[in-house]
Amino acid sequence: EVKQDLKGKRVVVTAGGTHEEIDPVRYIANRSSGKMGYALASAAAQRGAEVTLISGPSALPQPMGVKFIGIETTAELATAVKRAYPTTDVVIMAAAVADYRVKKVASQKIKKENASWHLELVKNEDILFGLGQTKRNQLLVGFAAETENLLANAQAKLTKKNLDLLVANDVARKDIGFASDSNEVTLLTKNQEPKHLKRASKQVIAGAILDEIVRLM
Ligand code: PMT
Repeated sequence: EVKQDLKGKRVVVTAGGTHEEIDPVRYIANRSSGKMGYALASAAAQRGAEVTLISGPSALPQPMGVKFIGIETTAELATAVKRAYPTTDVVIMAAAVADYRVKKVASQKIKKENASWHLELVKNEDILFGLGQTKRNQLLVGFAAETENLLANAQAKLTKKNLDLLVANDVARKDIGFASDSNEVTLLTKNQEPKHLKRASKQVIAGAILDEIVRLM
């Protein structure tokens, strides 16, 4: 029997990486298989939440019992998240969001005539930062994917983005993080000591993140 401690709660989970188009055949993207976010979405649904999963391109099957919204770009992700936000209790941003998009998307395939090619990028909005700015009663959960100074960088994101919980994820390691079936993270909150979750399946890590969310609610 799965405990129903999220019954009646509306939870939005974002997952996967966003893609930014260069031309009709090329894109730039952030790494993410979607495994961590999909594990969170299905675990929350099993615990009774009404879950909306907003996902970038992923090879994974859509989890049972969740409302699914597929997106490609950061702008599309922003639109979908902001539409759901006012009626949401918990937002979990596990998506790997492309911070830049291509300034001028080519309408035709760019020919490979030159030995080098400069692509101009412009900054995308920081979705989670915006949610932090307009937060009412929502519980906001972010991830921090870091390759160095994990806890210091993660702590800075918790504060800057006005989050209730931040999941610090070391993505330099091959045995956890991107695409792996396992993860190992540290949970940061405003007032508590950091909580380290030792390496386990993404299902187990998702369950522990939801336990912390329930505790904070
Ligand atoms: O999908 P998997 O293969 O299972 O891998 C899981 C994961 C490593 C992708 C995931 O656990 C993870 O760490 N996701 C966050 C990746 C990321 O974009 O981190 P960040 O440190 O760049 O961003 C910090 C937070 O702000 C994140 O919650 C992100 O969703 C959000 N963000 C970032 C940029 C932006 N423009 N808008 C945002 O909302």
